[in-house]
Amino acid sequence: MAICGIVLRSMMTLAVLGCGARGRTYSKVAAEMTARYRIVAACDKVVTRAQKLASFVTNGEVAVYDCEKEFFAAGKLSDVLLIATQDANHFEHAKAAIKLGYDILLEKPAAQTLEECEELHAMAIEHGVRIGLCFVLRYTPFYRAVKREIDSGRLGRIISLHASEGVDAYHQAHSYVRGHWRQSATASPMILAKSSHDCDLICWFANAGVKHLTSYGSLEVFRSENAPAGAPARCTDGCPAAAECMYDAHRYMGDKRSWLRMVLDDSETADDARILKFLQESPWGRCVYRCDNDVVDHQVIAAEMDNGITATFTMTAFNSGRTLEIYGTNGSLKGGSPWKDAGAPELFFRDHRTGTMEEVKFDLLDEGTYAGHGGGDAGIVDSLDQMFGPNGSLPPGLDGIEGHRFAFRAEMSRLRA
Ligand SMILES: NC(=O)c1ccc[n+]([C@@H]2O[C@H](COP(=O)([O-])OP(=O)(O)OC[C@H]3O[C@@H](n4cnc5c(N)ncnc54)[C@H](O)[C@@H]3O)[C@@H](O)[C@H]2O)c1
Repeated sequence: MAICGIVLRSMMTLAVLGCGARGRTYSKVAAEMTARYRIVAACDKVVTRAQKLASFVTNGEVAVYDCEKEFFAAGKLSDVLLIATQDANHFEHAKAAIKLGYDILLEKPAAQTLEECEELHAMAIEHGVRIGLCFVLRYTPFYRAVKREIDSGRLGRIISLHASEGVDAYHQAHSYVRGHWRQSATASPMILAKSSHDCDLICWFANAGVKHLTSYGSLEVFRSENAPAGAPARCTDGCPAAAECMYDAHRYMGDKRSWLRMVLDDSETADDARILKFLQESPWGRCVYRCDNDVVDHQVIAAEMDNGITATFTMTAFNSGRTLEIYGTNGSLKGGSPWKDAGAPELFFRDHRTGTMEEVKFDLLDEGTYAGHGGGDAGIVDSLDQMFGPNGSLPPGLDGIEGHRFAFRAEMSRLRA
């Protein structure tokens, strides 16, 4: 509703299923927007996590659940349900939520197979339910600026694009070698677990789904044959290569301590003795060359979209940051963060007719703090009413399914190669 140019937003209620790292991140942002969002329920099988999330909320009571069955048996508790459980839970949790008529903000990947994603899409349409995936990069100032440039028409017709993602070697080790997403079967293939954002962006910028695609990639580095001589199963067992090894788990007690926030509930208060015990017992103390991981550490894709645009993508553990190049008939865009640590991303436009180049400015401060996925975590929460409000932009169905089709097709191609 708008009166005299002022947009009046009605309060949107939220419930959260899965109160781990992601659930808490979004909820903290929403809990601060007390005039717009009210979190009314939180469910996690580790009840202290749901309680912690409830403690952020200052504008009402939060019903806390420790069991998904009881949570769903209570009926539809809010306008929107955030599902931030692990990859293997999303399909069943989303199905239960669709049946109750929830609009859903669903963590990616939507499900572990393309067939399940298609089923969710069809079910959501049938029940008139809107599902938005947590493609947080769409909500960052940088990628919004890219989209604005494309939509302005000044690139002319888009002909081809190239994207790259450097995961960062330690991030790869933490999440995709030692951590939650190390195995395709228990979590999801790397192209979904990490690069589903990029697959989504390619489809979003091309404004098309994929027609043909081929992909190659493998796990080359984090394998037992690459372990240093004499390396034990755990860094904490005394590794002769510890001083030179950049993956030494003792770094969790030093410069890599912030990574523990995502996997150790009491990381904020834990002392070195507590962290050492955690490293001796949890997957995060293991030698990166002696884990039970199978997801790739590098992958490439070459694709033709169904409107003729060609797209290429490179994912590697051995760089840090994302880059993007979009080539149009009248001009091209280049930008990103070639190295994540080098600061905020930049974007440049080149006009082919004049040969001039200019920097495309975007205001980080206007569009959210530059933190949490480049501002995307806060940006997606800020956009919930644009997605799910009474005049929300999402139609019933699984928004972002094109990006998932692209990613699953890439994994099928890679496995066949
Ligand atoms: N959008 C992004 O950029 C992004 C980034 C990281 C992770 N993710 C995705 O977000 C999801 C969550 O990741 P995370 O890092 O928060 O993981 P996490 O393990 O920290 O959180 C998952 C939570 O779900 C809870 N849970 C699991 N099964 C449950 C059940 N049956 N009922 C109730 N609670 C249950 C767990 O106890 C845990 O607290 C994953 O699917 C991951 O792939 C997305």
